[in-house]
Amino acid sequence: MSRLIIVSNRVAPISEGGPAAGGLAVGVYDALKETGGMWFGWSGDVLTSGQPQIALEERGPVTFATIGLLRRDYDQYYRGFSNATLWPAFHYRADLVQYDRHEYEGYSRVNAWLAQQLVPLLREDDVIWVHDYHLIPFAQALRAAGVKNRIGFFLHIPFPASQVLLAVPPHRELVQALCAFDLLGFQTRPDLRAFCDYIVNEAGGTTAMQPDGLTRIEAFGQTLCAGDYPIGVYPDEIAELARAGERGKPVRTLKATLHGRKVIMSVDRLDYSKGLVERFRAFERLLDHAPAQRNKVSFVQIAPPTRADLHAYQDIRLRLEAESGRINGRYAELDWTPIWYIHRQYERAVLAALFRASNVGYVTPLRDGMNLVAKEYVSAQNPEDPGVLVLSRFAGAAQELSGALIVNPLDIDGMADALSAALSMPLAERLARYQDMMAQLRENNVSVWRDRFMRDLGQVSVRQGVSLPPLERAQG
Ligand code: G6P
Repeated sequence: MSRLIIVSNRVAPISEGGPAAGGLAVGVYDALKETGGMWFGWSGDVLTSGQPQIALEERGPVTFATIGLLRRDYDQYYRGFSNATLWPAFHYRADLVQYDRHEYEGYSRVNAWLAQQLVPLLREDDVIWVHDYHLIPFAQALRAAGVKNRIGFFLHIPFPASQVLLAVPPHRELVQALCAFDLLGFQTRPDLRAFCDYIVNEAGGTTAMQPDGLTRIEAFGQTLCAGDYPIGVYPDEIAELARAGERGKPVRTLKATLHGRKVIMSVDRLDYSKGLVERFRAFERLLDHAPAQRNKVSFVQIAPPTRADLHAYQDIRLRLEAESGRINGRYAELDWTPIWYIHRQYERAVLAALFRASNVGYVTPLRDGMNLVAKEYVSAQNPEDPGVLVLSRFAGAAQELSGALIVNPLDIDGMADALSAALSMPLAERLARYQDMMAQLRENNVSVWRDRFMRDLGQVSVRQGVSLPPLERAQG
């Protein structure tokens, strides 16, 4: 049986039940716990001196292999090219793209260095699955180091339209590097289409749909396959976590403070891609247009800090603090705070319980690869009295969750209308929408996501003239 090697920049917090992280850490860890294998990536430490060393830690069936980054590498590879160039561009924020050639060199250098660190840990029949935008050149680097194993890549964030990707100066090199993987996975069909569009119209390559549903790509002298693999959750486990937390302190405190008022709930890393300012304004618009809602509903925004050493993140934090202060100043009463803005991280179990205790899940990013919060919100609901999901059409999850009220996050009035409809939706309609979404979430849970990707990676032909036996299915 082949061993699964996961490679990603961020490795899940090793302690179970620890604070919720981004979608990648949550989804990948859920998938890896079942198959077992190794997870290789950054330890989260930034070293000011010395030589980073790999630390190995076994936890159940998973071996964590993590390594620190030197300060310069962190600045160039993580803070710089990954998060100040690629992240905004891939989220359609070309206006926020900052590009520095040295940072791009650092990004390439760190990819090559990380690949060299991984090589001694590899076995001949390992299957390597690389995740996310930090590691686009990783297959190229492994191949350069002589690695002949199967290597797949999954992008957790959107893949932008060509005209936006062109804003990243080394766009061609990046797409060429992606073509060194054997299989590319995107969250949604629109992401896959955007990639194919670049291949055909910018790289002069070809794309062809195969009978097995995969897209065969020929470009830069390489042949590879690509597909869409929307990442899922384990809806029944989340439901259980939420149910277990129903009588816990956080929910009791929330209910005691609300005095029977309704609650709209949002949880996002404090990122400019999440549409937080627009969301706050739409809640304000609801209070403007529907005076009957005043003092009847509170909006809880949990927004844990993220990448706080980047200017764009400091800026969104200030804007959000100003907006929540302004709106609360305008509408708050002695006994009612309209917006609770909480800049702190909570454990996943606590969030699940809070989701269940709320009437509306308000998930309105300007762009998002998938948004697992949307899926977790639905999963956490009480099946007999579910809340309503208000979801941005620009979250990957909107491609699947048609039972949500789908909104355009730039349409403030439209979002206010959707909030109003959600708050007054009759039980029968809430049940129908919830059941429809739960069926979808159960059908495409996180192990289905993993197994589909692993099956396809096992079937695509591997480059470098090496022929390997077909991969056995990941053990369940
Ligand atoms: C998103 C990205 C992940 C990333 C996470 C948290 O979900 O797709 O790759 O790990 O955000 O961001 P951070 O910069 O803290 O790793």
